[in-house]
Amino acid sequence: MSSRKIIRGGLVITASDEIHADVLIEDGRIAALAASGTPAAEAWTDGQVIDATGKYVIPGGVDAHTHMELPFGGTFASDTFETGTRAAAWGGTTTIVDFAVQSVGHTLRDGLDAWHAKAEGNCAIDYGFHMIVSDVNEETLKEMDHLVEEGVTSFKQFMAYPGVFYSDDGQILRAMQRSADNGGLIMMHAENGIAIDVLVEQALARGETDPRYHGEVRKALLEAEATHRAIKLAQVAGAPLYVVHVSAMEAVAELARARDEGLNVFGETCPQYLFLSTDNLAEPDFEGAKYVCSTPLRPREHQAKLWQGLRTNDLQVVSTDHCPFCFVGQKELGRGDFSKIPNGLPGVENRMDLLHQAVVDGHISRRRWIEIACATPARMFGMYPKKGTIAPGADADVVIYDPHTEQTVSAETHHMNVDYSAYEGKRLTGRVETVLSRGELVITGREYTGRAGHGVYTPRSTCQYLT
Ligand code: URP
Ligand code: ZN
Ligand code: ZN
Ligand code: ZN
Repeated sequence: MSSRKIIRGGLVITASDEIHADVLIEDGRIAALAASGTPAAEAWTDGQVIDATGKYVIPGGVDAHTHMELPFGGTFASDTFETGTRAAAWGGTTTIVDFAVQSVGHTLRDGLDAWHAKAEGNCAIDYGFHMIVSDVNEETLKEMDHLVEEGVTSFKQFMAYPGVFYSDDGQILRAMQRSADNGGLIMMHAENGIAIDVLVEQALARGETDPRYHGEVRKALLEAEATHRAIKLAQVAGAPLYVVHVSAMEAVAELARARDEGLNVFGETCPQYLFLSTDNLAEPDFEGAKYVCSTPLRPREHQAKLWQGLRTNDLQVVSTDHCPFCFVGQKELGRGDFSKIPNGLPGVENRMDLLHQAVVDGHISRRRWIEIACATPARMFGMYPKKGTIAPGADADVVIYDPHTEQTVSAETHHMNVDYSAYEGKRLTGRVETVLSRGELVITGREYTGRAGHGVYTPRSTCQYLT
């Protein structure tokens, strides 16, 4: 079989350009682009032709925040690397960066080895790892240098979840100082977990046990406070900072102010904060548990500020924080006590479509869609231009996207291994039609043609987004 493929007649959209071009793929990479209908494009005759007339030809999505098989709250996220990466491909994502976890008392190496073992041979698309640092000590700090050298160039710390993933300010400062030296990027879960735990205890004592109280105790102000503190600690350390899953408008304001001061401070938000709200958390009959994640969903008025942040580049990335737990048997662990509901939402399959809907709705432009979902996450986490764009030399991770077909999101038809959809019944315009990963057809005209084990580990360079 020839490894040559030619995608004909589509509108190629990258973060910087929109051009009617044919795309030549050779040996898993983009070999060339040529304006459709020109002699240069017509000269490509040998190879499998994929017709993209009337469609968009976009880089495969880069989802820089997933948690396949994450242990949390006495259970495990319900997607394995096999099911989760297959679902990602269905949704037009061709690279994920998942979080390997250091458990307290163990080394970073132990955690990274464990995550390699979970992923290797099982993924439909390419994957990299960030490292969750739960135990900052002299040994851990040294290990961070080694990890950066071998392509794990970003480290998540938690200002929340005391007793589990939590780091205190001293541990955070030390890790930031280390990353200032070794080029790593600290990713922060910015919520004041110590204060939140007091409010959790008080709420439960008042008999406030329903899922909606999860949103009430995890206050926007405590996200803003932690975001501010993380920014100042990073400034003291002279390190860049990436704040994950930003949901509060007050936190966006902190990021905007820091960026106006010229700091290398970045923010990520997620589709759930852009499309869902505390109204969902308040759904009756414990249905609100489906929407429990941290940071929590916010009242609707926060959404406009998140969209604005995405337009003004005070927020740079939209990732999913895909961390699915089934309603039956998993979310139900928190009946009668919202603090026992495992935190996380499914979404790895929905991100590209939801953000295309944001284009249709006028929140962002087509190029900004590609920038926040493909190009910037690739640059932020050291994978550009191999990932995140369509350009000669790049991996041929390409999506043929039909911008006109309508779909209704549903757990009945999705491919994630979870028994509900956070977007059940939502009507969307646009749908993934065909997906290539390094030139191989993973989705072919709405049929899965990929395989577990096609996806390979992708070591990363350091952040390519610093000013
Ligand atoms: O609720 C969430 N976000 N679960 C995943 C873990 C995390 O904090 O990202
Ligand atoms: Zn996480
Ligand atoms: Zn987090
Ligand atoms: Zn997460």
